Amino acid sequence: MSHPIFPTHVTLVDVGPRDGLQNEAQPVAATDKIELVHRLQAAGLREIEVTSYVSPKWVPQMADNAQVMAGIQRQPGVRYSVLTPNMKGFEGALASQADEVVIFAAASEAFSQRNINCSIAESIERFRPVAEAAKAHGMKVRAAVSCALGGPYEGEVSLDAVEDVVQRLLDIGSDHIGIADTIGVGTAGRVTAVMERAMKHVPLAELSGHFHDTYGQALTNIYASLTLGVHIFDTSIAGLGGCPYAKGATGNVATEDVVYLLHGLGITTGIDLDALVDAGAFISNVLGRKPVSRVSNALLAKRANARCACPFPCLPFDPTPVPTPTPTPRSDHHEPARPEPPTG
Ligand code: HMG
Ligand code: MG
Repeated sequence: MSHPIFPTHVTLVDVGPRDGLQNEAQPVAATDKIELVHRLQAAGLREIEVTSYVSPKWVPQMADNAQVMAGIQRQPGVRYSVLTPNMKGFEGALASQADEVVIFAAASEAFSQRNINCSIAESIERFRPVAEAAKAHGMKVRAAVSCALGGPYEGEVSLDAVEDVVQRLLDIGSDHIGIADTIGVGTAGRVTAVMERAMKHVPLAELSGHFHDTYGQALTNIYASLTLGVHIFDTSIAGLGGCPYAKGATGNVATEDVVYLLHGLGITTGIDLDALVDAGAFISNVLGRKPVSRVSNALLAKRANARCACPFPCLPFDPTPVPTPTPTPRSDHHEPARPEPPTG
């Protein structure tokens, strides 16, 4: 069997601050969102989806969009994108000087209605002026095809339906197409078929994969996409997220897990995995839970073990406070160390 030919470099777009935090039941302070973006760029991410300009009645978690955008200390070479469902959202994006707007149309009619309260055709028409205005202001337009691997309400989505939405999004001026497995049901064979359909219309330089990991298939789906030459993926720090309109869907594949895979394949990302793990531990501490990343938890446990002289493996990192009486410390055993914030 011949070996697949992989891209030499892969670009990751961290969508955790938007796609991840939009789904959190608990409020997350704007200052913590800003800190997360700072840590992601410090770790080497060059594309970050920061927030969305959507209705705060629909998604209250993103109501602080302007505050977050204003608070970021921007680094040259980093592209800051925001999700915009309509012209009102675009005006917010423009005012906040976003570099890129993200529009999204579903390949599933029922999902489109639940997510943005209109049909697929109506959504495309709503996005047309957004794409035109973005171009007029020199902003890039990234378009996501939601439910490209299946939908929460209709189940299977046909290849023709995906191809049709891809074509329509290109027709209104989208620069980039992301194939999104919104509910994380896709498997490698189907992902290959969907990507091949998209590749009929979209150059590889402007095609990406956006895989939620509900069924644990996201890494395999990325691997399948890599073999086709796809080299841009949306990922989410600490595996944050889900979609408020796709019940049960979990977060995007964790950025940490994807970086580990890619570096293992000898593919460069420009990302420092240790700093990335710190960023994931930071936001996980804010949320009071462990990162949803096998790699992150393994590396945090390894760090803790490295600091402990005892012969027993330390427990992995767990930010949840344990409500038990404080035990008498043993002089020969260190508690599992919590991650220290990176210096500088
Ligand atoms: P609607 O209720 O049909 O809109 O919502 P409307 O035009 O009738 O406006 C209703 C109210 O919302 C009005 O305010 C508007 O001003 C306001 P009122 O007069 O009642 O006080 N409004 C807005 N406010 C702030 N920003 C805006 C905005 N637009 C209207 N942009 C709408 C339609 C699209 C606004 C709504 O359905 C919405 O905001 N939906 C957001 C859905 C969302 O964010 N979903 C998650 C993101 S998509 C996703 O995660 C998928 C992706 O990750 C890829 C994948 O995995 O598939 C991208
Ligand atoms: Mg998503």
